[in-house]
Amino acid sequence: MRGFLGWCLPMNAASPLKRSVVLGCGAYLPANIVTNDALSKRIDTSDEWIRKRTGIRQRHIAADGELTSDLALAACREALKFAGVAVEEIDLIVLATTTPDNTFPATATRVQSALGVKRGMAFDIQAVCSGFIYALSVADNMLRLGQASTALVIGAEVFSRILDWEDRGTCVLFGDGAGAMVLRAMPVSESDVAERGVMSTHLYSDGSHYDALYVDGGPGSTGTAGHVRMDGKEVYRHAVNLMADAVEAAVSANGMTLDDINWLIPHQANMRIIDSISRRLGIGEDRVVITVQGQANTSAATIPLALAAAQDDNRLKSGDIVALTALGGGFTWGAAMIRW
Ligand code: ACO
Repeated sequence: MRGFLGWCLPMNAASPLKRSVVLGCGAYLPANIVTNDALSKRIDTSDEWIRKRTGIRQRHIAADGELTSDLALAACREALKFAGVAVEEIDLIVLATTTPDNTFPATATRVQSALGVKRGMAFDIQAVCSGFIYALSVADNMLRLGQASTALVIGAEVFSRILDWEDRGTCVLFGDGAGAMVLRAMPVSESDVAERGVMSTHLYSDGSHYDALYVDGGPGSTGTAGHVRMDGKEVYRHAVNLMADAVEAAVSANGMTLDDINWLIPHQANMRIIDSISRRLGIGEDRVVITVQGQANTSAATIPLALAAAQDDNRLKSGDIVALTALGGGFTWGAAMIRW
């Protein structure tokens, strides 16, 4: 008998129905930690203001000369080690970043080369803070359709390089870091649609919010170096509803309820946003993975960093239902459901 997914997805003899299964995650955070107190010596802010408004206590900041590809590479090595996968098995690298090493080539190709991978595809995705969910969605679709067999999906940022360190309204919010996930296409057994793997991904964007969060220059058509500019209240206003809506859409697309979620892993921008999302969804603190206090907002890296943390301390158990959600500049946003 053909399973439920068999009616939804293309299938042919050469490429039997597949599902992308998570084999492991890895993380890398730069050694240099900058506390709120240290920041308050440089700009007019305080530990109390930052903690009260955001929950953030500290952030990791890349060393001079440390690039997004360096962070990504370190996270990939950790993910491969955990997964027990050899670099020779990788034939797809999708790297989400807002801070590529250069305008081109894609930072993913530098990671590919540094790993010694000689085959398959490597490219970048730009969806700012929701970049990892976009990258996961693209990789999942390619794996399921047989275009690749084993993928590294990465979120990596050196966000500190695009901050205006004189703008206290933004610079206190962000940090640097990278997280990576190894995903493998595995055949879906015809009798069991409840196997492990990515269950669904849900992507959205609404470019009418372009001006609420952007970099005023930088690589590309403007030809000027730029810094992050943000209308914090506007971002806050939309973040809670759009991320919560995306999780609800994902849950309902899988015929589940919010009670079925074992772990909610929201983008780690701000403790108040995370609290509001979990409250709206009725998901208690004991089912939410939170890393924002020690890492701040690492943009595309927050979700794989949080996944790696929950994997490493054994919170994530095989079969757990994990819901991811993020929102970033654009706005772009989305959600993903994974059976761990
Ligand atoms: N330290 C001390 N005071 C500050 C700081 C700071 N770092 N930053 C701003 N202030 C001051 C302001 O100047 C203002 O002073 P005033 O009243 O004298 O004018 C006062 O604090 C209040 O400023 P607001 O901007 O109104 O503060 P608000 O309560 O809105 O909090 C914040 C600001 C934390 C940015 C909030 O709007 C927020 O969390 N927005 C979401 C933004 C976000 O997380 N973006 C990340 C990227 S998008 C994403 O990842 C989802």
